[in-house]
Amino acid sequence: MFKKSVKVLVLASVCGLIWTSASIAQYAKKGKEVFQRLGCTACHSESSSAVAPSVKEISKAYAGKPKDLEDFFLGKREPIIDKSRFGAMKSFINLTKKISPEERQALVKYLLSF
Ligand code: HEC
Repeated sequence: MFKKSVKVLVLASVCGLIWTSASIAQYAKKGKEVFQRLGCTACHSESSSAVAPSVKEISKAYAGKPKDLEDFFLGKREPIIDKSRFGAMKSFINLTKKISPEERQALVKYLLSF
């Protein structure tokens, strides 16, 4: 009886873990799609910062601060990486403001997954 409930518990937590990591991966995947659909990849690449900060650089700058990045996409926060080049980026905030909160969250998850 005891053994059985332990088994059930272990099984349940393993399933929970698999489900959680799968849904995080799903989220980041959705965020990548949003990033591509909105044309962000025209300037941002995953690892080169030639035209605009790379996704890696963004991930580093906003590590542990998903809310700040979300607020930046809502136009509520100033850029923290390169204010002098913000002119090129500014109009894209209109796009990130318009997407659904769920898509914005996915975008943040994707950008912080590097
Ligand atoms: C026309 C080129 C261009 C496009 C397209 C573009 N960006 Fe940018 N982005 C830049 C430049 C240049 C910077 C550096 C200025 C800055 O730090 O704000 C930047 C900076 C950023 C930053 C860092 C902000 C900070 O705190 O400094 C984020 C995050 C970002 N872009 C996300 C996006 C997303 C999401 C999209 C698509 C909706 C996008 N960008 C589209 C050029 C672009």
